[in-house]
Amino acid sequence: MTQTPPTGTPPTETPPTETPPTETPPTETPLTETLRPHAEQAYADELAALAAADDRPRPPRWRLSPWAVTTYLLGGRLPDGTEISAKYVGSRRLVEIAVASLATDRALLLLGVPGTAKSWVSEHLAAAISGNSGLVVQGTAGTPEESLRYGWNYARLLAEGPSRAALVPSPVMRAMENGSLVRVEELTRIPAEVQDALISLLSEKTLPVPELDTEVQAVRGFNVVATANNRDKGVNELSSALRRRFNTVVLPLPETLADEVRIVEQRVGQVGRSLELPADLQASAEIERVVTVFRELRGGLTLDGRTTVKSPSATLSTAEAISVMTNGVALAAHFGDGRVRADDVAAALVGAVVKDPVQDRVVWQEYLETVVKDRREWADLYRACRELG
Ligand SMILES: Nc1ncnc2c1ncn2[C@@H]1O[C@H](COP(=O)(O)OP(=O)(O)O)[C@@H](O)[C@H]1O
Ligand SMILES: [Mg+2]
Repeated sequence: MTQTPPTGTPPTETPPTETPPTETPPTETPLTETLRPHAEQAYADELAALAAADDRPRPPRWRLSPWAVTTYLLGGRLPDGTEISAKYVGSRRLVEIAVASLATDRALLLLGVPGTAKSWVSEHLAAAISGNSGLVVQGTAGTPEESLRYGWNYARLLAEGPSRAALVPSPVMRAMENGSLVRVEELTRIPAEVQDALISLLSEKTLPVPELDTEVQAVRGFNVVATANNRDKGVNELSSALRRRFNTVVLPLPETLADEVRIVEQRVGQVGRSLELPADLQASAEIERVVTVFRELRGGLTLDGRTTVKSPSATLSTAEAISVMTNGVALAAHFGDGRVRADDVAAALVGAVVKDPVQDRVVWQEYLETVVKDRREWADLYRACRELG
């Protein structure tokens, strides 16, 4: 694989002339080429500024003090004038509780409906606290115990017998060894008997490796941030033994319309910039309408409290409002004049609401005819949705 620097940008290092570049492929892709850099890469400047300004005590192996981690998540301005962007919009107390519990010997469980920024917060916590958000176990019905403990490189195991070199550590084991955070995504999707492997890890802080007659003892700084969806149907409940090892923080849906609009605005701006969609799209008015539709359908009541509406089967989370708007921005940028209008968001909006083609369509039609139609200033949205059929 050859790497050519983007045109117009001079390469920062001239490759040595004696070796053709094809023989020495760069081991790291330049950050600007990564589709989605890790939080610690994307916000390296903010993290460095925070570390420099941070004179409060840091728990063992933490890159930042709990105060600085909280500032990193919620945003703020440092004494030297550096702006720290808000990653999470919500209650300061919730974030403080989450950060404080990671400084104890109890693990953290972020619970909430889909799209309430559980994964997002856990990534930023790991980036700010350990400087590495990449130690992740993705929970699924098929997650094996090896993902929480260790596995083997079978070729080596057969050739050399059990040895440390043949052992393949899980992200959890690596976090125990370096004293860092490890993330466990969608904990309740992991089969109950596999989840149990975490219980002894979290209480003993030791991972036995009987094959090598040894054990790995967690270094100070090790902890687990898990996420779970409290709407998942038919998944494994957390056993009470495991639940006791976690401090649970419930991430709520945004409290007010203004909060939710702010989150969508901010994230659509960031996503748009990273996709290099022509900037300066005046999307705010459209964002407010989309978020209003979401909140009314979610709550079963119009925001003025006058009309009850039926709720569709979909969760209609903030995350989904973000993707509806990002779609609208892309349409407007590539096929319009750059200004997001009703017909740029209508298709994605209807797609987000109507997940079940029969029941949800009825719910949506009713909302369209009883609520959207009656709002004079929404006539363009009404027309755009009607035109979709
Ligand atoms: N309160 C919030 N503050 C900031 N961003 C939020 C908030 N709620 C949702 N988001 C955004 O929603 C998106 C999806 O969140 P995600 O972490 O994937 O949800 P979950 O894991 O809870 O299902 C993220 O891009 C995040 O920025
Ligand atoms: Mg998630």
